[in-house]
Amino acid sequence: MAEMREAKVFVTRELPSAALDPLAEVATVRVWPGELPPPPDVLLAEAADADALLTLLTDRIDAAIMAAAPRLRVISNMAVGHDNIDMQEASRRAILVTNTPGILTETTADFAFALLLAAARRVVEADRYTRQGRWQTWGPQILLGQDVHDATLGLVGLGRVGLEVAKRGRGFGMRVLYHDAIRRLKEERRYGLAYVELEQLLAESDFVSLHVPLTAETHHLIGERELSLMKPTAVLINTARGAAVDQRALWRFLKERRIAAAAIDVSEQEPIAPDEPLLALENIIITPHIASASVATRLGMAKMAVDNLLAALRGQVPPHCVNREVVRRWRRALPG
Ligand code: DGY
Repeated sequence: MAEMREAKVFVTRELPSAALDPLAEVATVRVWPGELPPPPDVLLAEAADADALLTLLTDRIDAAIMAAAPRLRVISNMAVGHDNIDMQEASRRAILVTNTPGILTETTADFAFALLLAAARRVVEADRYTRQGRWQTWGPQILLGQDVHDATLGLVGLGRVGLEVAKRGRGFGMRVLYHDAIRRLKEERRYGLAYVELEQLLAESDFVSLHVPLTAETHHLIGERELSLMKPTAVLINTARGAAVDQRALWRFLKERRIAAAAIDVSEQEPIAPDEPLLALENIIITPHIASASVATRLGMAKMAVDNLLAALRGQVPPHCVNREVVRRWRRALPG
């Protein structure tokens, strides 16, 4: 890596100074000032002489950007997911990629559970109803929702966030099922969770919550067939990645009331298009990818992203390196 002082870092969005200052003390830092992501041509131009990039999940770092960035040695992504980065290309070029796991786990789980509760008890719909002046009386049949206590929660993916949602579900007296590529026997025993196949989970759950990374295997993991296995009273929650769900199929199932409701924080296209048909439905809550958006967590993520980057600039393996298998080649490519 260039001597630290000479290292050039491009940061794709303004971050709190508490996070960025330590970086600015040791490297030449350029920060994209816009509220929206830098356009692809800006990203390409900025990457051209950068030793390091600090990116967000909204920045697509593809082969073309890496090809235009001969000095690039590390990409620090301020997110746990890194599906915005062409990992194969980064590894081929011995560019380290880092992420921010752990720090956002509980905040994200809190939000997934908030969506679950809001969808179950129709909180957003009820707020609209009140503001529209439709509240005329207490009615025995008005805005009836579903109970969360004693219901069955099905978690697709029992990674960090999935496990935290499981704990919240148990705290609410729910039966908790999960499906994952890996069985977690210790957690099953400790928290009283049951492992089942995906089909059984979909058929038995009142609430299905997704906690999978976006990969070729999880793309459209929930499509027509999977939705058709769910109960007509079931609710789907997605705080993972939009493309884990076939959005067109979801629209059909919600419209035809073949599942009761959905609550999604992520969408196949982000930001969601203004003419997205899902927006016209009453039985879905849609939030703008904010599951990790608490003051403390976002600061923690920014600091973690900077720490990862600083370690790489010092020639050390960053604490949260995603492609550790390239470390030897990365070291060999460091100047000096
Ligand atoms: C992540 O870190 O991948 C989350 O989606 C950000 O909220």
